[in-house]
Amino acid sequence: MFNTDEKEAIFRFMGFTEIRSAVDYIHAHCSIRPRIGIILGTGLGTLVQEVDVSDVISYEDIPHFPISTVESHLGKLIFGKIAEREVVVMQGRLHYYEGYDMQQVVFPVRVMKLLGVDTLLISNAAGGLNNSFQVSELMLIEDHIDLLPDNPLRGRNIDELGPRFPDMSEAYNPYLLRMAKEISQTHNLAVQQGVYVSVPGPNLETKAEYKYLQIIGADAVGMSTVPEVIAAVHAGLSVFAVSVITDLCFGTHVNKLSLEDVIAAAKRAEPSMTLLFKQMIKRL
Ligand code: HPA
Repeated sequence: MFNTDEKEAIFRFMGFTEIRSAVDYIHAHCSIRPRIGIILGTGLGTLVQEVDVSDVISYEDIPHFPISTVESHLGKLIFGKIAEREVVVMQGRLHYYEGYDMQQVVFPVRVMKLLGVDTLLISNAAGGLNNSFQVSELMLIEDHIDLLPDNPLRGRNIDELGPRFPDMSEAYNPYLLRMAKEISQTHNLAVQQGVYVSVPGPNLETKAEYKYLQIIGADAVGMSTVPEVIAAVHAGLSVFAVSVITDLCFGTHVNKLSLEDVIAAAKRAEPSMTLLFKQMIKRL
């Protein structure tokens, strides 16, 4: 068993000191001071091409930064400008199913907070549970249901970041949601809006599970986003998130699904997603 010092070391593993030292490293290697943080989901990496890049830092070079293991993701922080706004883009997100603990999954969000980020934009790939949805449509996330087995805020509260019991009644910023709807209308983007439910994965759901997720009020299901949103809201960030519906999970639509299918469907939605994010950033 662990002695008290070892327990303390494990417990503090991803505490404020570690966040601070990651931020110090980034400050020493990058001149951009981003206000906007962006996390890109599976198959949705091309927004990076819109960045007027000034610095790229690999996760493996940043102290305490977890390293992304999923093949379809790259592990880099991209610093630069989109529409003259300073941004940091997380290319390669960390999923709970990869084996990270929750404090590791949200570590980059906390680093972003200390870098000066106040607005977080997130994309993800998700299965559509709402029977009016179609593949490759976007769903603006208005709320979530958390079915992950752990919570990033569990354990000693990091008081420097936020309160012990943060409110989640408006996790997704209504102003940003309204802005996204207006932009979608102006640019004729077919968007849906709904509730995202997070599951641990990595297996996809059974037919009975999809039905259950529909019954409890979810419109889309995925394996990411919610931990980052919880940590961001805890730290006082304004959050906007959007899902690309990569497969339909109701009735006769439930078929065998591969990562390739998910990526192909996400790719088709990428131009709309990129346009939406760019237009939002312009207005921030
Ligand atoms: N379930 C969970 N996660 C997903 C799905 C799904 O059907 N599609 C894309 N990500």
